[in-house]
Amino acid sequence: MKTTLIASSVVFSCAVVSMGCASDMKSSTSGYDEGRTSNRIAPASLYDRLGGKPAITAVIDDFVGRVAADNRINGKFVNANIPHLKMMLVEQVCQASGGPCTYTGPDMKTIHAGMQITNEQFDALVGDLVESLNNFHVGEREKEEILSVLGPMRKDIVTAM
Ligand code: HEM
Repeated sequence: MKTTLIASSVVFSCAVVSMGCASDMKSSTSGYDEGRTSNRIAPASLYDRLGGKPAITAVIDDFVGRVAADNRINGKFVNANIPHLKMMLVEQVCQASGGPCTYTGPDMKTIHAGMQITNEQFDALVGDLVESLNNFHVGEREKEEILSVLGPMRKDIVTAM
């Protein structure tokens, strides 16, 4: 288990590091090869910059482990189907980042209805995710992009004061 995570961590870091190089190259050409009309380089999707599904899966595994150890929120997950939850989160992040996945779960409002989730609990969960992203050395730009997708979900998930 530990070996798998470390190996995945390397995949994730390398993907982000190598993207850093690609970004540097792009900045001098506005993201395209301006010298030619063909052979244009499309900007890499967030999904690709994260390292694809293996890297996303590794981050979600780490994240759910942190949530399970987080006394501020783990009480909400006592009856959760953790393998299914992980699968849904991977699908969600994969789709939201432009990857070749379709999120097959319920919408955020429906699944969290009746859970009485507070702003503090929402912030705690997002904080756990940030720790996982840091653990895998995800770049600032990629982190911001992920968080900007999650932020607007607050209004559908938080239902208690
Ligand atoms: C941006 C924040 C969040 C996202 C993107 C998110 C996403 C999801 C997803 C994709 C599922 C799985 C749906 C399914 O089982 O089909 C889920 C379920 C669940 N979420 Fe969230 N969630 C968020 C915040 C929270 C927070 C703050 C809590 C509680 C503190 C929470 C508690 C739960 C619980 C208890 C389940 C049900 C798990 C189960 O029954 O197996 N979620 N969430």
